[in-house]
Amino acid sequence: MSETVQTFKTPADTSWFNHDRFGMFIHWGLYALPARHEWIKQFEQIPDEVYDRYFKHFDPDLYDPQLWADAAANAGMKYFVITTKHHEGFCLWDSKLTDYKATNTAAGRDLIRPMVEAFRGRDLRVGFYHSLIDWHHPQFTIDDLHAMRNHPDRKKLNAKRDQKKYIEYLHGQVRELLTEYGKIDVLWFDFSYPSRPGYIGKGRQDWGSEKLYKMVRELQPQVILDDRLDLADGWDIKTPEQFQPREWVTVDGQPVVWEACQTFSGSWGYHRDEESWKSIDQLVQMLVDTVSKGGNLLLNVGPTGRGEFDERALDRLRGMGEWMKRHSRSIYGCTAAPKGFAAPTDCRLTYNPDTKRLYCHVFAWPFIQLHLDGLAGKIEYAQLLHDASEVKMAEPPPHQTAIESIDRKTVTLHLPVKKPNVTVPVIELFLK
Ligand code: GLC
Repeated sequence: MSETVQTFKTPADTSWFNHDRFGMFIHWGLYALPARHEWIKQFEQIPDEVYDRYFKHFDPDLYDPQLWADAAANAGMKYFVITTKHHEGFCLWDSKLTDYKATNTAAGRDLIRPMVEAFRGRDLRVGFYHSLIDWHHPQFTIDDLHAMRNHPDRKKLNAKRDQKKYIEYLHGQVRELLTEYGKIDVLWFDFSYPSRPGYIGKGRQDWGSEKLYKMVRELQPQVILDDRLDLADGWDIKTPEQFQPREWVTVDGQPVVWEACQTFSGSWGYHRDEESWKSIDQLVQMLVDTVSKGGNLLLNVGPTGRGEFDERALDRLRGMGEWMKRHSRSIYGCTAAPKGFAAPTDCRLTYNPDTKRLYCHVFAWPFIQLHLDGLAGKIEYAQLLHDASEVKMAEPPPHQTAIESIDRKTVTLHLPVKKPNVTVPVIELFLK
């Protein structure tokens, strides 16, 4: 049997991550109130004093993290990543270093702690997203991405700002997050946009990335770190965003551990009027496609300002959970099929190296025959995964010379005419 792909070794132990495959991203902040994208302050260049109305009116009276954790666990998700602070600068936890936090809104408390407890209670691992960017902090220098980039007094304002002080704040807050909530499994910094000719951005110098990195590894050596600190080394995962790679993600030709982050619609934060919601079919296919290329899927929910997952999100999560209930065996512990195993047309393969089972996910249901090239003599048994009903298979009989296109190494599965009533049918192949 050919080998499964070995990834480039990074500082953290990513074995749980590679096993679990499916996580929930949560983008929650003041931007849930304008409800038209988490970048709204930047898009509409809203001054602090105007944006302040969302701080004043933030009142998540229906917030019940137990319901969130249940929705994630029932969808089959195994970890979650919450925005402790997004680019707007608002902090969901009770940071000692700022007043711009949930504690000082009608919420009146640290919103992160009960969330962490609720998700841990459902056996989900804990991830913190933390924005390097901060469009509220008075020392954060105004660059070309900033909400105030076109302010007429930008130069004068910047003369009074000291990015070094912001770096202290950033590091101090990360220290809080990594010391006050127990073991953190994922740390997800976002993001760097280094300066280039004609563009003033921010990168490793502006975050003090090297020092920050050292502190992170000291405080939580096992934490899985993303790749957005603008450092060449030290990261554990690559994070393609709203993008499905064609194949296993590589760096300098070497396969790496990777995680696609995706939204249900086009926005990360709650967006009332956004209509481009993906269907349950698309989302299940997205998860399968990701695992078939050796990656993880971090799928995002943007809770409302009252603290709920809206019905559209719950509907998708339920649909995925319904599928996962009977098919998670083709996701957990699975990876890309070993080299040399080609997926049939409209199918994706995943493989569990421990059980030696190959999973064929059929995206477009064919008429009766499904040909698996190169597998003759290698399959012991085949069944539909959702109901464990046998799938008959045949290798081409030696006298079948009339059909020259049949390869002697091909196995042909005999499928029911009607597509099974599941989102994506899966054929489980027990290899010899
Ligand atoms: C980004 C965006 C953002 C989102 C994130 C998730 O870079 O700035 O709003 O939080 O990606 O990947």
